[in-house]
Amino acid sequence: MVKYVKLSNNVEMPQEGFGVFQVPESECEEVVYQAIQTGYRLIDTASSYKNEEAVGRAVQRAVSEGLVRREELFIATKAYIQEMGYEKLKEAFFRSLDKLGLDCLDLYLIHMPLGDYYGAWRAMEELYEEKKIRAVGVCNFDGARLMDLCYNVNVRPMVNQIERHPHFQRAEDLAVMGKLGVQPEGWAPFAEGLKGMFTEPVLREIAAKHNKTAAQVILRWNIQQGVVIIPKSVHRERMEENLAIWDFTLDEEDMERISGLDKNCPSMLDCAKPSEIDRLYNYLENPILTSL
Ligand SMILES: NC(=O)c1ccc[n+]([C@@H]2O[C@H](COP(=O)([O-])OP(=O)(O)OC[C@H]3O[C@@H](n4cnc5c(N)ncnc54)[C@H](OP(=O)(O)O)[C@@H]3O)[C@@H](O)[C@H]2O)c1
Repeated sequence: MVKYVKLSNNVEMPQEGFGVFQVPESECEEVVYQAIQTGYRLIDTASSYKNEEAVGRAVQRAVSEGLVRREELFIATKAYIQEMGYEKLKEAFFRSLDKLGLDCLDLYLIHMPLGDYYGAWRAMEELYEEKKIRAVGVCNFDGARLMDLCYNVNVRPMVNQIERHPHFQRAEDLAVMGKLGVQPEGWAPFAEGLKGMFTEPVLREIAAKHNKTAAQVILRWNIQQGVVIIPKSVHRERMEENLAIWDFTLDEEDMERISGLDKNCPSMLDCAKPSEIDRLYNYLENPILTSL
C-alpha cells in the first residue's frame, strides 16, 4: 500500500504517483485510467505536456464509474516559463483547471526557476489562500535558489520537484529542503532509462538479492529517503511493477552501495548551462527533450 507524506501545511500527499511526461494526448486518457485502476492516486502532468485534457477525461471516467472518489486523487500540474508573471499565472491556472475539468487542484508547481517566477508566486499565494489549490510548489530549484525564494515569500513552497536518480543523488539539495520544510519529489527516477540505468550491475545485484527488479530498487531507495516519486510507464505490467515496492526494505549495505553510484551529474536538465536555458525557453515551439 502506498504511504502518504504530510506536507508543511498538513496536506497528505501519496509518496508514489504516476507521471505523464511524453505520454501522447491520444493515449493519455487510457494510460491514466489504467494507472488509477492499478492503484496510483497521484497524477503528475504539466501545461507543457499538452495532455491535461486527457488526464481530466481519465479522472472524470474513473470517478463516474466509481473506481475512485475525487478526494482520493491528488492531481498536480505545472505552469511553464511562458506562464510566469502575476497575470499570466492566473490565466494559466484557470486554463489548466478547465482542461483538467476540476474545481480545485491538489498541487500547482512552477515548472522552471526561470522568468518572472516571483510574480507568478504572488498569484499562486492568492490562489492558495482562496483554497483553489491545496498545495503549492516549485520544480528544478537547487538549494541556493530555493533558499532565496523562501526568504521572499509569504507562503513557502510545500514541494520541490527535482531530477533525482542514482546517478544524480543531490544530498546537499535534499538537506536544504529538509531544513526549509519543503518536501522533495524526484522526477525521472530511472533517468528515463538513459545511460544504462536499468543494467547498472550494483542495482541488478541488489534487485536479485530481494527478488525484485532494478526499477523497483531505485524506487524503494527513494522511498526510504523520504522522497516522493512519480515514475512514468505506458505499459500496464510496468505500472504494476513500479507500485510493487511497498513490501520490501533495502538494508544499510544496499543503501550505501547505491550511494556509491552518484556521479553528481544531471542526465536530463542542467539549469546552470546557458544552452540549456535557451532550449527551455524555446521548448514549447521546439520540444527537444534534452541537450545533455
Ligand atoms: N518537473 C520537471 O521538470 C519534470 C521533468 C521530467 C519529468 N517530470 C515528471 O516526472 C515523471 C517521471 O519522469 P520521466 O517520465 O521523465 O522518466 P522516468 O520515470 O525516469 O522513466 C520513464 C521511462 O522508463 C520506462 N520504464 C518505466 N518503468 C519501467 C520499468 N519498470 N522497467 C523498464 N522501463 C521502465 C518508460 O517506458 P514505457 O513508458 O515504455 O514503459 C519510460 O521510457 C514524468 O512523467 C513527469 O511527470 C518532471
